[in-house]
Amino acid sequence: MSRAYPTPDIDQPTPLLGGLTPREFMRDYWQKKPLLIRQAIPGFRPPVTLKDIQTLARREEVESRLITQGEKGWTMKHGPFRRFPPAAQPKWTLLVQSVDLHDDESAALMRQFRFISDARLDDLMISIATDGGGVGPHYDSYDVFLLQGYGRRRWRTSCQADRTLVPGMPLKILADFQPEADDILEPGDMLYLPPHVCHDGVAIGNDCMTLSIGFRVPSQATLARGLLESAADQISAQHLGDPGLYGHPCLPGADLATLYTDADTPATRTPAALPPHLVQATLDTLKQIRLDEAVAARFLGQWLTSLPDNALFDPTETAVALAETVPATGRLVLDRCTRLMYSGAQLFINGEVAACASEPALQTLADERALPAEAIRALDAHTRAHLDEWLQEGWAHWQDAA
Ligand code: SIN
Ligand code: CO
Repeated sequence: MSRAYPTPDIDQPTPLLGGLTPREFMRDYWQKKPLLIRQAIPGFRPPVTLKDIQTLARREEVESRLITQGEKGWTMKHGPFRRFPPAAQPKWTLLVQSVDLHDDESAALMRQFRFISDARLDDLMISIATDGGGVGPHYDSYDVFLLQGYGRRRWRTSCQADRTLVPGMPLKILADFQPEADDILEPGDMLYLPPHVCHDGVAIGNDCMTLSIGFRVPSQATLARGLLESAADQISAQHLGDPGLYGHPCLPGADLATLYTDADTPATRTPAALPPHLVQATLDTLKQIRLDEAVAARFLGQWLTSLPDNALFDPTETAVALAETVPATGRLVLDRCTRLMYSGAQLFINGEVAACASEPALQTLADERALPAEAIRALDAHTRAHLDEWLQEGWAHWQDAA
């Protein structure tokens, strides 16, 4: 049974945020300024060992990098790895991405940060390093909580404006890092950094482990393209018989079946030129296209719940059949890899529109990642049959009462 890491109440001061409430943290620090938190998790014992990180980095489906600093400067290799430099060799670090996809307790640890929307939470990256190891002075484009797991790490940070990088390096290294703060983090200490704050974390001694809770930030280009793709797929589903990625089931939309007409067009001497009338008629269709919240949510819901290739489920025969009988006790829990989100009447699971409606109990399941037997009993048989499908896919599991 994995250790429970409860998500803090947004109005309760919490050691996780240095005695601030999540509401205060979001107001004063999030995306604004760094925060060093001593003993964010008192007595912290990481969910995985240093050896576990090496074992993960040997696996094909796990994303990992090995960064070394030697006489020839910085080198970076991508996993999977068969062997690692000796523990006695200083200045190397192994970074494993998305540990939350591969380990239940790591996923539970990351969910402590769910006072921030799932739409923003990305992954738990874990690095191990020997003395002097690190990834060099750099900046990231996303927010990050850097939690010290084992050993000690010196973090130097700077809010400098000059973020010029050294050209031609295998990794992002700042050309002129000017540290403004300098702190040594011990197990359980944590540093929050907003995007673009320059930082350099160097292991002090061997057996250093740092856990990075990272966030995702879509660019405006990604959002605009996704919105238009979602709108295009609705048109395609309704009129051209192809739902594409975002058109199933089709949202109600404009009637665009009317054919183009060009009565009174004069004869032309330039038959290869596009008729301006046709160009204008194309632009005029835009007035009928619905770019509303439902179309935006269709893109966001499917895109944000879509799974990376290395999110693997274990489809199993389950002993429970909720459509027939709901056990007297116990609860349905989402698998660590499952992504379930909602917006109004739309419910999204693992990149698809869920076949059942977004009713309050399923929204509770999405927020809590668990739903007790009594709440499931109140659902209709059709919805319970869909939950059975999720159980069979391995997207959810039945947990008997302890
Ligand atoms: C690390 O764990 O060494 C890298 C984390 C970071 O600087 O983003
Ligand atoms: Co960084």
